[in-house]
Amino acid sequence: MPLSHKFCIAPMMQCTDIHDRFLFRLITKRAFLYTEMVTTGAIIHGKCFEQLSFNKEIEQPIAVQLGGSDPADLAECSKICSSLGYDEINLNIGCPSERVQKGSFGACLMEDPELVKDCIEAMQEVTSTPITIKCRIGVNERDDINFLNEFVAKILNPKLKTIIVHARVAILSGLSPRQNRQIPPLKYENVYQLKKEFPKLEVVINGGIKGVDESIHHLEKVDGVMLGRSPYDNPMIVSNVDSKIFNETDLGNDRKSILKKYLQYCLVQNDSGYPLSRTLKHVFGLNRGLKNAKKYRSLILETMQKNNLEITQDDLISMV
Ligand SMILES: Cc1cc2nc3c(=O)[nH]c(=O)nc-3n(C[C@H](O)[C@H](O)[C@H](O)COP(=O)(O)O)c2cc1C
Repeated sequence: MPLSHKFCIAPMMQCTDIHDRFLFRLITKRAFLYTEMVTTGAIIHGKCFEQLSFNKEIEQPIAVQLGGSDPADLAECSKICSSLGYDEINLNIGCPSERVQKGSFGACLMEDPELVKDCIEAMQEVTSTPITIKCRIGVNERDDINFLNEFVAKILNPKLKTIIVHARVAILSGLSPRQNRQIPPLKYENVYQLKKEFPKLEVVINGGIKGVDESIHHLEKVDGVMLGRSPYDNPMIVSNVDSKIFNETDLGNDRKSILKKYLQYCLVQNDSGYPLSRTLKHVFGLNRGLKNAKKYRSLILETMQKNNLEITQDDLISMV
């Protein structure tokens, strides 16, 4: 399968885990998938075997996202991730949370391009797996195009071929991560300008993109799009990605068959010890736009609470 960032599904903590990615692979074979961010500390102290595992049969193309700022630690984790078979290793330079800032990584790294350069080079030295970064257009009051262009000029090297940019600044104090995804205005123009300034760089735009038609519009200006909340809240919006973005045949699964297959998967996972609360939460959005949304959601909640799908699965399937 050729690797392409034309359409990516964003890394999202508590969301894009192995189960959610199974769901997306029932809907699109070509979207580039990302894991949740995994910190170097968690990998090195061996706390995240589960977060790092992925299903090689179906999930590729897939990238793992790392959070960290120590070049040696990032190199060690890159080695591990590359031996696991990931197609790409992405470094998080966009997360504004206080916890992440305390660890001196995420968006605050945009203020230290020298360190970012060292981190990327240390990762590249130990693996041939492509290293990419996901950053913001700037931090705090620096939402001007010069900041982003200068940052990229300072970190760039010939092996760094892809940059994903969330088209908002990260405000490093006073806003929660959630507010940081809503309050700073989207400035797509800065990302378009970055592509103009570095035409050979693969530039992927992220932030506020609602669906495939909007994606096609952005693809006139940049190489790829990355969508987070909209496909998570309504997974069916990616059902025509393979045809509309990649000119290939869509998988063609309708809502009912997707839910049926996913619920089968949930049962198998439940038998291996994953409670339904971990797997079922990803299908809240599967009946988006249908009449019985409230009833569907409460039946999912009830099923999660009772951790018993056998009695409700037919009703759930009838509601999509
Ligand atoms: C619940 C949640 C968790 C997120 N976790 C991560 C993460 O682990 N790594 C990351 O780079 N961005 C994370 N993000 C940010 C998204 O990847 C994305 O940049 C942001 O939501 C903007 O894109 P959207 O408007 O398409 O959702 C998260 C966003 C949400 C809503």
